[in-house]
Parts: sequence; C-alpha cells; structure tokens
Amino acid sequence: MKMTRTIQHTREQIKSWKKDGYSIGFVPTMGYLHEGHQSLMEKSIQENDKTVVSIFVNPMQFDNPDDLKNYPINPLADMELCDKAGVDLIFSPGVDEVYEKGFCTFVDMSVLTEELCGKSRHNHFRGVCTVVNKLFNIVAPDFAYFGQKDAQQLLVIKKMVKDLNMDLEIVGCPTVRESDGLAKSSRNTHLNPEERKAATILSKAIFEGKNLIESGERNIEKVVAAMKSILQTEPLAKIDYVEIVDGNTVQKIETLQGSVLGQAAIFIGKVRLIDNFIYEV
Ligand code: PAF
Repeated sequence: MKMTRTIQHTREQIKSWKKDGYSIGFVPTMGYLHEGHQSLMEKSIQENDKTVVSIFVNPMQFDNPDDLKNYPINPLADMELCDKAGVDLIFSPGVDEVYEKGFCTFVDMSVLTEELCGKSRHNHFRGVCTVVNKLFNIVAPDFAYFGQKDAQQLLVIKKMVKDLNMDLEIVGCPTVRESDGLAKSSRNTHLNPEERKAATILSKAIFEGKNLIESGERNIEKVVAAMKSILQTEPLAKIDYVEIVDGNTVQKIETLQGSVLGQAAIFIGKVRLIDNFIYEV
C-alpha cells in the first residue's frame, strides 16, 4: 500500500495507473475508520483495479470549532485497516495542501441542502461539496463510494456530479450497524458507556418510522410523532430534528409517495448522531 501527502504525488501515481489501463475506485473519508468505511473500501476493491482512500478532516465542513477540534484521529489504526482491506493508495494531505493561502472558490448547492442537516449545520454542505469536488479533481476516479448513513450527503454529491457534468459514477452503500442497531460512526467513540447505551434509541425510532410506513401508515405527522415519542423516552437524548422528506430532492412533502427519506438527528450529551431510512412507497 502506498501513501501520498501531496496533490502532485497523488496525481503522478493515478496517471501511471491510468496509463496502464487500470480503473480507479475512490473512498473519501475523514479518517478514524470503522467497519462502515471498510465496507465502502471492500466494494471499491471488488469493482475496480485500484482503490484510493483519502483521509482528510475537512475544516470547511464544520460549523462548530469544538466539533472540529474534538474530531477523533488515529492515523496508525487507519493505515492498518486500509492495508488489511487491500487499499492501494492512501492520500492524506495536510490542510495547507488542500486549501492554499488565498483559497476562495466554493461549490454551493441550493434546494437539496435546505432541509435536514443543511438547516441545522450552517455551510456544512458547502464545505463537503467543495472538498469532494477538489478530491475528485485530484484522484480522478471512475467510481466513488459513499455510505447511505449520510443519506443527504449522498444525494447532494450525486446531484453535484450530475449538475457539473463530472465524469464519474457515485455508488451508495448500505449503512453498517452495531449489533444493537446503532449506525457505525466515528462520533460513537465520544459516547461514554451510559450515553452509548442511550444512543440505541435513535435506530429504534428510525426502525419504527420505517415499519409504520411499511405496514400502511400514510400520515406523515403520525409517523414523525411516533418517532419523536420513542426518542423522548430516552432522557439523555435531545432531538435536533425528525423529518420525512422527498428521497430525491430532500424537499418537504405533504403525502407519502415515491421515494421518501426519514431522518432524525439527536444529541446525546455533546455528541450529534444521525440516522435514516429510505423507503419506496
Ligand atoms: O463523509 C465524510 O466523511 C466527509 O463528509 C467527506 C465525504 C469525506 C468529505 O469530507
């Protein structure tokens, strides 16, 4: 497994692989890798000749400086996980390499970023779109892999690729869960044992929302209320939002039809957790 820190070295490696006719799969990450990331890498390795993983904690997508400061890192464990999975190249640049002094170009998106996390995390998706755009320009992948756990991010990136005529395909991969249902996330490590136990309430609410729709409930308010009332049974959980939106446009809907995205965000202590379900009505 190779590792690069600069854009130039990464491009040189990719160019030489492309010259040999290899396809490139790409998994962008912010490190502190877990089984969720591993499943993206495995899919990329299955489907491509070479797999590149980027590890870069992108300051531009954090609206809260404390959140950025406390973002967990473990470079050695990340390298080991990538190596074991069979990744070919890790691109792990510093902030100055990605954002040169004077950087002032941003990728901003309307509509899809107005609801859910876009509403509660100011400029988050602008930061995500900008860095993912840059990473795509550096790595020039044929396929890039993103988790369904961040459903809005996945939709936003798919739309950006389409709107900006980018020459790659985005592949969405299923959420990986702990045995008690909690979606795997780097943030879970910030939960103390009591909070970790409490956090399972989120997937319970998500599963309940999906079950209700699956079993025929078509009243959005009733589904949202049922999800909220489950979350409210956990004293350590503070609801950020519970919403059901259009599963393609992330816009508010009046009726449950077509593809719907149910998502909830909660705080357990200082840790913000999200989870979702997608359902074809
Ligand atoms: O999902 C993430 O880890 C990040 O948002 C991403 C896509 C790597 C961009 O920084």
